[in-house]
Amino acid sequence: MTSSPKDKTVSLRTERAKRAGSTSPRAAPGGYPATRLRRNRRADWSRRLIRENALSTDDLIWPIFLIEGERKRTPVSAMPGVERLSVDLAVKAAEEAAALGIPAIALFPNTEPSLRDEAASEALNPANLVCRAVRAIKGAVPDIGIICDVALDPYTSHGHDGLIVNGEVDNDRTVEALIMQALVQAEAGADILAPSDMMDGRIGAIRGALEENGFTSTQILAYAAKYASSFYGPFRDAVGSGAKLKGDKLGYQMDPANGAEALREVALDIEEGADMVMVKPGLAYLDIVFRVKQAFGVPTFAYHTSGEYAMIAAAAERGWLDRDRILLETLMAFKRAGADAVFTYFALAAAGLLKN
Ligand code: PBG
Repeated sequence: MTSSPKDKTVSLRTERAKRAGSTSPRAAPGGYPATRLRRNRRADWSRRLIRENALSTDDLIWPIFLIEGERKRTPVSAMPGVERLSVDLAVKAAEEAAALGIPAIALFPNTEPSLRDEAASEALNPANLVCRAVRAIKGAVPDIGIICDVALDPYTSHGHDGLIVNGEVDNDRTVEALIMQALVQAEAGADILAPSDMMDGRIGAIRGALEENGFTSTQILAYAAKYASSFYGPFRDAVGSGAKLKGDKLGYQMDPANGAEALREVALDIEEGADMVMVKPGLAYLDIVFRVKQAFGVPTFAYHTSGEYAMIAAAAERGWLDRDRILLETLMAFKRAGADAVFTYFALAAAGLLKN
């Protein structure tokens, strides 16, 4: 009689029992009461020993909103605890982040309304708000990584990530503008460029331009699987593009119904020269994080978005949720899904909690 590999342990045990002259085989392993999973959970030391994933400050990326001015901070209404900062205060914030051990920050400018136009021309200004912030932070805190968003939405009068031609966001014209924007940011000293626009072919185009212009060490974090999501609402308020946005972004960002398509997006971006890839939003898309990490094994980041921040902050304000515990549990879920790092507006709070 042949037995399947699954039965092997059982039959060995039965053999042993027979040799020992016993006629009653013991309970099959894998079953209660021999197996009680609670044994390993009883003591803190044991839980620590068997813990499968770890969350550390090294996993955190802190997004910071910028405004013009000096010693200026304005609250973001749907994100209690988050403020837009003038460049001098952003430098202070970067110092604080570095002191806590946060590896990188991501900068998002709230461009003056008068500087927004159809062509997103301010995006190409080497002295625009984000470029000035990059230079100031690099000068004061040289050891923190600086990530810049490559997309036109903080600069367009219509709030879209690209240039509109004949009523549509035009892919190839937009890519031309993104290349220029990327070069301006690389020149300012950005360490990582993060195209978040979802145009086709932009990663390859930007990589090519970086190589041609001597920026051979500039990293690209591709927002490879970015969904047309309602979780971005508070962010759009923070950068001042929400009220301006006409229509939706369904024509370029991904359909929340799709999973396999995310793998195609990621494959293309890696092929085109991305150093890391991003899945966005976060919690509701952890299945995508998991699949991407499993399929490609490349550095995979996830974005705990503004809407996700708002949900936790609002419930915590009402005393409905324990903010600190929810926060650490949420960030651990990202790690369990396979994320190497997480963009989160809670980065400072999380770093503080992890220190204690
Ligand atoms: C801009 C951009 C967005 C976010 C990051 N970069 C908004 C959007 O695509 O509309 C969202 C971040 C967040 O919600 O926290 N392309």
